[in-house]
Amino acid sequence: MKRTLGTCYYPEHWPRDVWEDDARRMVDAGLTWVRIGEFAWSRLEPTEGNFDFAWLDDAIDVLGHAGLKVVLGTPTATPPKWVLDKHPDMLAVDASGAPRKFGSRRHYCFSHQGYRQECRRIVTKLAERYGAHAFIKAWQTDNEYGCHDTVISYSNAARAGFQNWLSQKYQSPDALNRAWGNVFWSMEYPDFADVDLPNLTVTEPNHPHQLDFMRYSSDMVVEFNRLQTEILRQHTDAPLIHNYMGRIVEFDHYAVGADLDIASWDSYPIGFLSDRLEADDDHKRHFLRQGDPDFQAFHHDLYRSVGRGRMWIMEQQPGPVNWAPYNPAPLPGMARLWAWEAFAHGAETVCYFRWRQAPFAQEQMHAGLLRPDSADAPALAECQQVAQEIAAMPDVGTAKAQAALIFDYTSAWAWMAQPQGADFDYFRLCFAVYRGLRRAGLNVDILAPDTTNLDGYELVMAPGLMSLSFALRTALRDTKTPVILGPRTDTKTDHLAIPTPMGPNVDGLDISVVMTESIPPNTHAPLQGGGRFVHWIEHLEGAADPVLRHAAGSPAMVAKNNLYYLGGWPDEQTLDKIIARFVTPMNLPQGLRVRDTDAHRFWINYNPHDVTFEGLTIPAAGVQWTSL
Ligand code: GAL
Repeated sequence: MKRTLGTCYYPEHWPRDVWEDDARRMVDAGLTWVRIGEFAWSRLEPTEGNFDFAWLDDAIDVLGHAGLKVVLGTPTATPPKWVLDKHPDMLAVDASGAPRKFGSRRHYCFSHQGYRQECRRIVTKLAERYGAHAFIKAWQTDNEYGCHDTVISYSNAARAGFQNWLSQKYQSPDALNRAWGNVFWSMEYPDFADVDLPNLTVTEPNHPHQLDFMRYSSDMVVEFNRLQTEILRQHTDAPLIHNYMGRIVEFDHYAVGADLDIASWDSYPIGFLSDRLEADDDHKRHFLRQGDPDFQAFHHDLYRSVGRGRMWIMEQQPGPVNWAPYNPAPLPGMARLWAWEAFAHGAETVCYFRWRQAPFAQEQMHAGLLRPDSADAPALAECQQVAQEIAAMPDVGTAKAQAALIFDYTSAWAWMAQPQGADFDYFRLCFAVYRGLRRAGLNVDILAPDTTNLDGYELVMAPGLMSLSFALRTALRDTKTPVILGPRTDTKTDHLAIPTPMGPNVDGLDISVVMTESIPPNTHAPLQGGGRFVHWIEHLEGAADPVLRHAAGSPAMVAKNNLYYLGGWPDEQTLDKIIARFVTPMNLPQGLRVRDTDAHRFWINYNPHDVTFEGLTIPAAGVQWTSL
């Protein structure tokens, strides 16, 4: 398929007399798509029931007649003040019990039925008016569910919704008390109406109580998105998209994605490096103006899975952002590199955020493709270069991945509720494993936890899965593919209790985790032959054969046929060694990554210096491709 470029535009921020020129310059730059409307509720419905669509009609016409395809966003991430005045209790409530105020965005609680009704109204109006519009080629629901920590809300609406959700799940308070182990500390509830939300408890709340609240909260995001997709589908055949964010795990993206046609995400590599990545100072210094060399790739692969093969970048960083602790400018070349990396991972479209830098409000320090004075910003020339390269490039298809990683949101919530060690973070563990697979030069698929078929890969890794779905148990039983489970995989019941016999309880793999230890940074457990476990160590008991041992001789990793269990959090050296048992690694130098499509190998150099590898020199912050 031909890849395309786009941008995010806010006609309501600019005088009418620049729209035509903006649209013409977008087309001249080689852009195909423009996303609009996702925050414009106060201009679409300034007061209740008083709609003004004339300006949006006009903007869509200007953009469409210039030759652009429009993605129209529903504006539900930014309810205007009158909506809040009408529903004063619609705000999300934080863990301390304080409502989160008006004055930015995402100020709503997913559980609030009155707010949902307002959303139904505005989405219906938009869908009726624009659903069949010739220039509207895709829709975006809301904006970045979960961004700014907005999934979990301890509101009265959430409490009532949670009690109802629990009553449906457990049917009787006795069943809930048994499932949660509420005999402990006399926590038994006589009635569902007695169950409160798991915040403000004296010491830690009961873990299954927390886990169920996270499941409930995720379900509310799914319901909220679905109420929009159900309306939109009645009026349009255009694809429905949501723009997810980086490293947000508080809701099940696979479940939201099931109601959509394409998964898109918002890629801010330099912001993420500074804001949401565990890495030492040297790493952050080295990649300061490029971003981490695996973080974007991980999300491309994750969201390709969430979108069942269809993935976009709805927002691509073009220059310094405003929201991270530190906001350096990208090295020349990165705005091009990020786009080609995304295409190589299967992105259909990359849209730069945003067209012109706003001179006002919260994001006035956030770069765009144009400066606030409308002059070209540095990324525009790189965007034009990508457009020319796309035109000259034959279509690229995706290649079969050699390795797969199973990624599960419920497990992320389980270990948030019960980390058992300050450094045990599920995303961090999965990302560490993903980095190892990428260092080896592999194409990686990220699979949902209910995956039914593991065949065709050279290696599958499933770290940290709290419990296994029936589908996955069956797939594990049926496959000949080498699969590495652990640490912590299948060691809990669905209610976050310890099973008997102690897990993992995987057919054919005779091993149990009988004790676990967490250890602080700068401490470790040495392994025979070099390498170490960090953060997390498990004591294994059973008949599976040790393939790796602790320095003192006890088993660290065991195997039965094609199934393996890894009883600790491996450092890089150990992980590389383990992966090399199954595939021939490329041993890529720091910062150099490859990704194969069906016809090309893309060489992606995140380093601030040129890299020569296998006779090829890839320039600093550069990407190039060779035929396969
Ligand atoms: C995203 C968001 C955009 C804009 C951008 C700034 O999180 O969707 O609206 O705020 O970040 O980097």
